[in-house]
Amino acid sequence: MTTPVISTTECKNLILKGRGKVRDIYDLGDQLLIVATDRMSAFDVVMPNPIPDKGRVLTQLSKFWFDLTKDIVPNHVISTEVEDYPKDCQSYREMLKGRSMMVMKTEVLPVECVVRGYLSGSGWEEYRKSGEVCGIGLPKGLVESSKLDEPIFTPATKAEMGLHDENISFEKMEKIVGKELAKKLETLSIAIYGKAREVAEEKGIIIADTKMEFGVKGKKLILIDELLTPDSSRFWPKDEYQPGGPQKSFDKQFLRDYLLSIHWDKSPPAPPLPEEIVQKTREKYLEAYERLVGRPLSSFLTL
Ligand SMILES: Nc1ncnc2c1ncn2[C@@H]1O[C@H](COP(=O)(O)OP(=O)(O)OP(=O)(O)O)[C@@H](O)[C@H]1O
Ligand SMILES: [Mg+2]
Repeated sequence: MTTPVISTTECKNLILKGRGKVRDIYDLGDQLLIVATDRMSAFDVVMPNPIPDKGRVLTQLSKFWFDLTKDIVPNHVISTEVEDYPKDCQSYREMLKGRSMMVMKTEVLPVECVVRGYLSGSGWEEYRKSGEVCGIGLPKGLVESSKLDEPIFTPATKAEMGLHDENISFEKMEKIVGKELAKKLETLSIAIYGKAREVAEEKGIIIADTKMEFGVKGKKLILIDELLTPDSSRFWPKDEYQPGGPQKSFDKQFLRDYLLSIHWDKSPPAPPLPEEIVQKTREKYLEAYERLVGRPLSSFLTL
């Protein structure tokens, strides 16, 4: 059973702050309403077909991790229950259920806090060229997807719309947010990643790396945005882990393999997806949720 699929939200009573590739953000004044749609992106392009239940999986996974890490750092979540949202949201309650979060609006710090436990993506690219990632020297002889002795903090600056984030050195980050805050962000990010990866590994999922965002409200440092979802992290199936090449993505592999098989040139628009690919992708997202959280998402599907 699936719930209605949402590709785009049109909440006319609310003020739309912006749309990301996946999420629509509404401005509630002191708060934000973050709505995860069922849009799916691959190779940085949004697909024409939505993936049923994906938005709920992303929201509920974020919620799970925010709860699990709240002893390490406070986060922006105020409520994920539509009943708690302002009156203007109530006419959208069916759509919002399970896929939305009311959060504290903060001043966003202009750095992406990336932690890597394995060498992949832009980290691997940098290491291959220079033996370093974001100015951190790593041992010789590592291969693509190698596990690092210790997780490393590799910050990035947020790119303008349409561009990729740019990896920066810790010194550059210190210049942007100040020495003290940079150190704090590093320590917190590594602690959060460390806790999450332990939990995930026990469930057969490797979290190779992840990206976090922080904001400030008054003098308080707050973890914001989404947390440890397949959109902000690399999830790999542990039983198939084999360093020396790229790993299978837990959630997007069917889709990526399909797109590669039809030789799509990765520039928009993306081709329509066969139903089988949509369904398999959906199953993988649900499986990621069920494995990590330890219970099925179906309780939300029947709400
Ligand atoms: N608590 C918060 N306070 C203020 N801004 C927030 C908060 N939580 C998230 N944001 C911001 O909301 C935006 C969420 O947008 P979203 O991630 O959906 O799109 P995007 O980053 O523009 O694009 P992409 O699809 O590539 O992620 C980000 O700019 C993020 O910094
Ligand atoms: Mg984003």
